[in-house]
Amino acid sequence: MEGARVQEILSGLLAQNPSISPKYFYDGLGSRLFEIITLLDEYYPTRTEGAIMSQYSAEIAKAIGKCDVLLDLGAGNCQKGSALFDSLMPVEYRALDISKEFLEEAIAGLQSKFPHILMTAQEFDLQNPLSFPELATRKKTFFYPGSSIGNFDPKAASNLFHNLAKVCDGAGGLLIGVDLIKPLDILNKAYNDSLGITAAFNKNVLLNINRILSSNFQLDCWEHYAIFNEELGCIQMYLRATKDQRVTWQGGERLFKASELIHTENSYKYTQQHFESLLISAGFKSTQSWTDPRNQFLVTYASFA
Ligand code: AVI
Repeated sequence: MEGARVQEILSGLLAQNPSISPKYFYDGLGSRLFEIITLLDEYYPTRTEGAIMSQYSAEIAKAIGKCDVLLDLGAGNCQKGSALFDSLMPVEYRALDISKEFLEEAIAGLQSKFPHILMTAQEFDLQNPLSFPELATRKKTFFYPGSSIGNFDPKAASNLFHNLAKVCDGAGGLLIGVDLIKPLDILNKAYNDSLGITAAFNKNVLLNINRILSSNFQLDCWEHYAIFNEELGCIQMYLRATKDQRVTWQGGERLFKASELIHTENSYKYTQQHFESLLISAGFKSTQSWTDPRNQFLVTYASFA
């Protein structure tokens, strides 16, 4: 695992257009910085999604029906997943994320409040194949909030939906939140906040990479750069070198020229119509969606039934 992770990072750093996968944002400090981002005035997605989920909780629960197993993809601190417990009343809750560390802590806290729900934490990278043979006969409701789907391009998102459809095998569904296309100034401000928290979140990925590779990225030689790419329909985040520099790690190095970019994240935005059509073409039978009064964010339940 460690070797595969190092290989993945090195192939990104050594590519002609260098990149680092956004999954490396979320070390301990990065996860906390992201939590702060969600509190910023400029970053509307988290609170807008929360408001939609609570306003329409009864309708969402009705659309989902009986919830046997709730599988929370990228569960983090399990706050969003556990907010569904009262309305969905799942028999079992499975929290999945890249690192089990935070999950176990979160689940330990939740278990005492909801002793009747069987809770488990599972380390899981969405880049790997989805397979839950032990849940084969159970009705599964997948939960993927926060517009995390926006980190995949539409083709990769569609592949993930196909795989989820296969795993559900005709029953259950997917409750998912996605950010909608909107005026450029709102989008650009959300990823270039005035306190510089998103810049710190972006630059922190280099500290995480330094830890994993024993490399020597210097934070003061990089700046945050985020812009909406209108052609692709996504915010693109980069780290831009402020001067020529040599970055080394065990057994290798790369020279970066001033202004050279390392791509760190894409955050795709959708129209409701495009998003629902991706779900239907991936094999879901129907969709039901809810949005906020300003049409900033979309919550969709895609059903296999
Ligand atoms: C987790 N993900 C959906 C966030 C987003 O909006 O793409 C991550 C983020 N990056 C910068 N700000 C927030």
